[in-house]
Amino acid sequence: PRPILLTRHGESRDNVRARIGGDSALSDTGALYAKKLADFVEKRLKSERAASVQWRALDEINAGACDGMTYLEIKKNMPEEYESREKDKLRYRYPRGESYLDVIQRLEPVIIELERQRAPVVVISHQAVLRALYAYFADRPLKEIPHIEVPLHTIIEIQMGVTGVQEKRYKLMD
Ligand code: F6P
Repeated sequence: PRPILLTRHGESRDNVRARIGGDSALSDTGALYAKKLADFVEKRLKSERAASVQWRALDEINAGACDGMTYLEIKKNMPEEYESREKDKLRYRYPRGESYLDVIQRLEPVIIELERQRAPVVVISHQAVLRALYAYFADRPLKEIPHIEVPLHTIIEIQMGVTGVQEKRYKLMD
């Protein structure tokens, strides 16, 4: 059975500053992970033919009016928004942005495409998106999705076989 490998991008400058969204460059550590990831994939999928595509549908949850802020800034400047998200992170939609449910919905075509693939697939994306994809493939309940841990610099390999799902994690860096 073909594996699906899920990983977040390397640490970004915004990750370092604890800012959500944005579209910043990688930090030095993040750039190093990008190299290690490339080596890993090359070794792991040696005999496979690879094609690389970029999908907008894999963009991070759109934080709308809160894009570029830290959680602390949201808490201080938009306390009601912060509260509502705390109360229901799955359904909470950022002003002019998305909710987890919105993300899950936009991932539907991605999942259909991933299911169709016969070859191994490596998905490099973002925290919220990977939570949703992981939940789908590892069969986790909807309500858990916003809270699933998807650490940086770690590859989650999922194998779907007749006996169920198997998972391996490779932490390439601290
Ligand atoms: O902080 C990195 C990040 O990918 C943000 O861009 C995004 O808003 C956030 O994680 C999603 O995680 P959470 O839903 O826990 O805020």
